[in-house]
Parts: sequence; C-alpha cells; structure tokens
Amino acid sequence: MKVLFVCLGNICRSPTAEGVFRKLLEEQGDDLDVVVDSAGTQNYHVGEPPDTRSQAAALARGIDISGQRARQVIATDFAEFDLVLAMDESNLANLRAMSSSTHHERVRLFLEFSPDDTRTSVPDPYYGGANGFEEVLDIVEDAAAGLLQHVRRVRGSG
Ligand code: 4NP
Repeated sequence: MKVLFVCLGNICRSPTAEGVFRKLLEEQGDDLDVVVDSAGTQNYHVGEPPDTRSQAAALARGIDISGQRARQVIATDFAEFDLVLAMDESNLANLRAMSSSTHHERVRLFLEFSPDDTRTSVPDPYYGGANGFEEVLDIVEDAAAGLLQHVRRVRGSG
C-alpha cells in the first residue's frame, strides 16, 4: 500500500500529514507494509523543508518533519500510489484534472477517513496565526487514525 498526501505547496499540511501518519505506523502499524510520501499541486516551494511553523508545531507533539523536502505532484504518482489524498476540495479538483479517469478512484479527500464528518478540508494555515498549525495537527491526527483503520480493513486483518 502506498499513500501520497497532497496539498498546495507541500510545506504545511501534507508534510504534517506525512509525519503524523508515519509516526502512527511506527507506533501501531509495524505489521503493515505502507509507503508514505507527500507532494504539492504547485511548484512554489520545491526543494524547501516544511514551513518552520509546521515543523515547530509537529515537534511539540514529538513528530520531526524537518527532513522532508517539498516536491510537486508528477504524472506517474497516480499509477504508483494506491491512495492520493487531497487536503482540500481545491487540491482534489486539481488532482482529478491532472490524472486520467482510470485513476480517479484513488484520488480522494484525506478527511473522508476522519471520524469527524463536520468538515471535508484541512484549512490552509499559511497566511494565518500559530493556532492554525495546531488546528491542522488536530484535524490530521484524527484523520490519520481513521486512515490506519482503513488500511487494516483493506488488508483484511481487522
Ligand atoms: P500548504 O500551505 O499547501 O499546506 O503547504 C501553503 C503553502 C504555501 C502557499 C500556500 C499554502 N503559498 O501560497 O506559497
């Protein structure tokens, strides 16, 4: 199973999701064979580490995302990854537009997997205050737990 998290710039939301899900897999999914990556629909920040505010907020929860580097989504991602998970509706629309309809089933909203069904998008924290980064982590942690359950279900082990 290969999972790609996607946001706009790949410096705030999707690196956070990658870090949170990676840690969850280490802690609770040792038996699972899951590859995790993240990317952006845009190229504004390619090669950069995650936003320092995202790094700090994640580190405060014991998650080190400093080693990640931003990349843009490429055409082969849609064949390679079983799940291409968009952080918001706009990313989802862009991903669907750049992929063939044969791959649209794997292009989904990350928050589909969240037990909290009050929202469909992870809000973009880039232009906001520090609280936005905490909110991203809260939302991402819930959805990551749901995604882990999904991976187990798909794998047929409960
Ligand atoms: P992300 O946040 O998509 O969660 O990485 C953003 C990063 C950069 C920009 C917008 C959102 N930007 O406009 O540069």
